[in-house]
Amino acid sequence: MQYSSLTNIVIFNNCNITVMELNGRDFILRELNLADAPTLQLHANNPNISRFLFNRFPLPYTLEDAEYFINSKVGQDPITCFAIAINEDVIGIISLEFRIDVYTKAPLLGYWVSERYWGKGIITEAVKLITDYAFKHLDIISIRAVVFDNNPVSMRVLEKAGYLKEGILKNNIFKNGEILDEHIYGIVKKI
Ligand SMILES: CC(C)(COP(=O)(O)OP(=O)(O)OC[C@H]1O[C@@H](n2cnc3c(N)ncnc32)[C@H](O)[C@@H]1OP(=O)(O)O)[C@@H](O)C(=O)NCCC(=O)NCCS
Repeated sequence: MQYSSLTNIVIFNNCNITVMELNGRDFILRELNLADAPTLQLHANNPNISRFLFNRFPLPYTLEDAEYFINSKVGQDPITCFAIAINEDVIGIISLEFRIDVYTKAPLLGYWVSERYWGKGIITEAVKLITDYAFKHLDIISIRAVVFDNNPVSMRVLEKAGYLKEGILKNNIFKNGEILDEHIYGIVKKI
């Protein structure tokens, strides 16, 4: 068994299985597995979360939705979608979505955390952890995040984590019958 630790990143190599965790103060970021479906569903099934996300995030969020999502993420190499876990519970997700064509080195950051845990600094810390991990271990040149106009909390999170607002796309979002501007945030790799 090999063990290596890079700042907050812990990687266990045991036979052919690699387990990676990013350690926060009160939570860990780790790979999802199917046993996470019930707690993922419990925390994700909330209109106060889905209203700020793309429509592909379902409402209601069923157990089948949780299982489908987890199945689409297990076995990632490298890992780009992390469960935000406290003890055994998955209380949120943070991920980098890789894109195609000229955007292959500029993934999109996305995240949510259970409403029960809002305002505790969890996502700000998680964004810092995944950004640090991504620039150190993935072949990328920048990270982008898009935020709806009605979500100042998420804008604050990104700004606290070192992202800059790069522009506003007027009337770019139609969500729940409402027309909204889209705020583009980004951070570029320091070379
Ligand atoms: C956005 C979200 C991830 C934030 O998670 P969180 O763990 O509660 O965020 P944090 O506690 O790290 O930081 C929240 C910050 O916003 C601030 N804030 C709260 N309400 C605010 C408001 N109305 N306007 C501006 N800032 C606000 C908080 O004070 C805190 O900043 P501070 O540390 O300087 O005081 C969470 O609310 C969520 O899951 N929302 C639904 C999904 C979502 O919006 N995802 C992002 C899509 S872009």
